[in-house]
Amino acid sequence: MDSLTEKIAPADAEGIARAARILRDGGLVAFPTETVYGLGADATNGRAVAGIFAAKGRPRFNPLIVHVQGLAEAERHAIFSDIARRLAARFWPGALTLVLPRATTALSELVSAGLSTVALRVPSHPVAQRLLREAGLPIAAPSANSSGRVSATLASHVEDALQDKVDVILDGGPTALGLESTVIGFDGARPVLLRPGAIARDDIEAVSGPLQKAGANIQSPGQMESHYAPDATLRLNASTVEQGEALLGFGPSSDATLNLSIRGDLKEAAANLFAMLRELDKNARRIAVMPIPDTGLGEAINDRLRRAAAGRE
Ligand code: TXA
Ligand code: MG
Repeated sequence: MDSLTEKIAPADAEGIARAARILRDGGLVAFPTETVYGLGADATNGRAVAGIFAAKGRPRFNPLIVHVQGLAEAERHAIFSDIARRLAARFWPGALTLVLPRATTALSELVSAGLSTVALRVPSHPVAQRLLREAGLPIAAPSANSSGRVSATLASHVEDALQDKVDVILDGGPTALGLESTVIGFDGARPVLLRPGAIARDDIEAVSGPLQKAGANIQSPGQMESHYAPDATLRLNASTVEQGEALLGFGPSSDATLNLSIRGDLKEAAANLFAMLRELDKNARRIAVMPIPDTGLGEAINDRLRRAAAGRE
């Protein structure tokens, strides 16, 4: 076996048991969630959490999402308001992250990067759930990509970026949603959309009422810098394709090199987004992207595309 494939383990009982041991020993485990792959460490172990930042090459300590088994466990780490509890009841397990005031907790300070809040999520992916149960620990996990690069939706994407830096990569196949979780924080009692993601704004607002825009009072540090960048340059809202460009299509198109969703389905487009950007990035220096409506999941897709287009300066 070569060193490249040794890191990937099937997400079966044996693989998960091994990954749980590695987490308890302070190591790093990449694992599938329903959104994207995560790069996980014991959230109560500051040295293990520091290992995540080192592995990702994060320019500074952005706060991390702590993954837990359920609402009861989450309530030991953070102070829930009524709206937060309603959102958790409706969307957990699932692609919702809540940023809440920290309780007195065993969580490492580093997961909060010095803030008085902590981001919590209960993933629905069966491998993530089983890993959380077997490790018996909260797991801090950002998306399993190098800092500033496109998120991983396959175990092989993780391997490309982090093979030397992670102890094991649990292979659970392609992630179903393909976009990171929606991150909601609070400005006092008012819910704030910190990052559009795999649960559309309308679905959240049906439970929480209107979401505020992130602003001066509250923001998401990881959202400040340009993110999700491929090597190729991106041209958005392209109606035609120019010479030397690969075209990422949406809806019917005879010119598309790859198509996010021929039938114009935003869910399908979200699931394909990162893998198709990676694929086009291998062969093209310039990628043109057809317009994507800004409704439903389109808000998060367009957010990621704008960041990718902004480059990494
Ligand atoms: O779907 C997901 O959310 C994936 C999977 C692995 O769970 N994780 C993920 O993590 O995307 P990451 O680290 O790439 O993004 C976490 C986002 C960042 O924008 C970060 O700034 C924000 O959550 N965040 C975390 N803790 C925060 C806090 N205390 N206050 C404000 N924003 C926070
Ligand atoms: Mg990320």
